[in-house]
Amino acid sequence: MSLLEARSRIASAQAITILTGAGISADSGIPTFRGTEGLWRNYRAEDLATPEAFERNPQRVWEWYNWRREIIATKQPNEAHHALVRMEERAKNFHLVTQNVDGLHRLAGSRSIYELHGDIWKVRCTSCLQVTDNHEVPLSLLPHCHTCGGLLRPHIVWFGESLDEQTLNKSFQAVKSCEVMVIIGTSGLVYPAAMLMPAAKANGAFVVEVNLDPTHSSPSAALSINGRARDIVPLLL
Ligand code: OAD
Repeated sequence: MSLLEARSRIASAQAITILTGAGISADSGIPTFRGTEGLWRNYRAEDLATPEAFERNPQRVWEWYNWRREIIATKQPNEAHHALVRMEERAKNFHLVTQNVDGLHRLAGSRSIYELHGDIWKVRCTSCLQVTDNHEVPLSLLPHCHTCGGLLRPHIVWFGESLDEQTLNKSFQAVKSCEVMVIIGTSGLVYPAAMLMPAAKANGAFVVEVNLDPTHSSPSAALSINGRARDIVPLLL
């Protein structure tokens, strides 16, 4: 299977579904989670990205999310994000499922986005559950809800929490109904997102993977291309 063949499959497909992970934003300068310089090499997820950690020490959790908001606020979408916008403009049915919380797909101009793990630019009240946009950088270390005064938390799916059911269902529908699935910059180690590729394959989709390195999903893809997302994704158009 060659890149040329993948391009022609993508060009003629009626339905395309994309799955992205931290690797697509690595080319914008945002750290990934696993790799040699990944966030989970230097920080313990149990201390920062679980409901228990927030209950124990909300200030520390907010400090970490403030630090990440500060980094992300200075970054821009790269050629790979932009290429996906063009792909969406050309395809009849197009869905972009992302595990990223950085908002760069939206900033680039993608429209049909399912954010599986939430959005770092939203906050949720732990009392009244209201979700609001919030772009303050930095936020106070114990931010409170303007409506009810409850403690705000990042609108992010933490380890041990369930994904939004509607977003997850729509994502599965999108992979089950696509002709081509392109998986970009994810280690494929986090569930339930890791079940999306098998679901696409089981329904006969042609799967293309773009990743800096081979992953455990690579052998199941029709084509696995190793390289930087910003270099490879534009070539798929
Ligand atoms: P990971 O950090 O697990 O994986 C990033 C993947 O991107 C790796 O397979 C890298 O080889 C690849 N990669 C790195 N740089 C790249 C580049 N320039 N071009 C292409 N590929 C590149 O990130 P995710 O798979 O997204 O959850 O992690 C999934 C979830 O785990 C995240 O959404 C996050 C984390 O815990 C939450 O925050 C809820």
